[in-house]
Amino acid sequence: MKDIYILGIESSCDETSAAIVKNGREEIATIISSQIEIHKDYGGVVPEIASREHVKHISIVLEECLEKAHMSMDDIDAIAITYGPGLIGSLLVGLEAAKTLSFVYNKPLIPIHHIAGHIYANSLVKEMKFPLLAVVVSGGHTELIEMKDHYKFEKLGGTLDDAIGECYDKVARVMDLEYPGGPKVDKLALKGKNTYKLPIPLRDDSYNFSFSGLKSAVINLVHNEEQRGNEINKEDLASSFQTVAVTSIINKVKKAIVERNIKYVIVAGGVAANHGLRTAMEELTKELNVELSIPPMKYCTDNATMIAAAGYYAYKDGRKADLTLNSKSQDTLK
Ligand code: KG4
Ligand code: ZN
Repeated sequence: MKDIYILGIESSCDETSAAIVKNGREEIATIISSQIEIHKDYGGVVPEIASREHVKHISIVLEECLEKAHMSMDDIDAIAITYGPGLIGSLLVGLEAAKTLSFVYNKPLIPIHHIAGHIYANSLVKEMKFPLLAVVVSGGHTELIEMKDHYKFEKLGGTLDDAIGECYDKVARVMDLEYPGGPKVDKLALKGKNTYKLPIPLRDDSYNFSFSGLKSAVINLVHNEEQRGNEINKEDLASSFQTVAVTSIINKVKKAIVERNIKYVIVAGGVAANHGLRTAMEELTKELNVELSIPPMKYCTDNATMIAAAGYYAYKDGRKADLTLNSKSQDTLK
């Protein structure tokens, strides 16, 4: 069978990235230009700055990617592009680049939902087995997705308000930790104890999550202690917050595994790097005798490798777009 080479392009938030993947499983080359240092000064991603930075970097990133792969556009079978969800101005930069390449080189254009990308990051390390449960935890998403086959997604539930990563970043902010604060809270949590009482959100019968109440509870706790002149033990607060956040996710994952008869679980998105969540997922899947896969960090945070990997399966599924394809800041994974 002929090898299929997909060029992936990702620009949905603050990473400009291009990658080439062979047959959906083998990374040939990846280039990522991150804007974290720029947005740090503002305590979060500033959409207008993000899109301007993408404009500056997209051509260079694409050129470097082809160069690194020792390939030209003639060697590429199709172009996979994140069309959404994400920051609209940022998405448009990648999309226009992808459309231009598709038009000039006469290559099929494959629209990729960003979450499909996070899920397919897994196929770069392990073959996916079905029925699988994808636990998608990132700065913008907290979702449980069931897949019965390649490119057959069923959303079981998701966050009703803040995403888990967003909650981590806001909690970090009130603790005076630099953006993105998630990894810093995680690091502190490892040294602390679960001493502060915080509520476990949404203990209901759904597969949904809610993190805004937990975020407010931490912010209120910090402000109240400050007003009383008490010093916060940051390590203990991080540990208490992490315990509750992770428990809330694990409870719903457990329910999904049991009720949906899941045999294979993958964790995807930036928060998959979290030590508390990784440990809890390992324990849970061991207890329920289910296989677990968590891709290495470089595939968990935003990158075009995962978009190119998803692109292969979308290509096989016949999912092509024409040049009228538009970006969407929000869209359901289908
Ligand atoms: O997947 P990602 O790179 O971007 C989105 O698509 O949103 O995820 C970034 C998010 C940020 O909120 C960051 O704070 C969080 O992932 N994150 C973590 C950890 N590492 C990254 N949150 C908790 N613990 C970590 N170790
Ligand atoms: Zn992402």
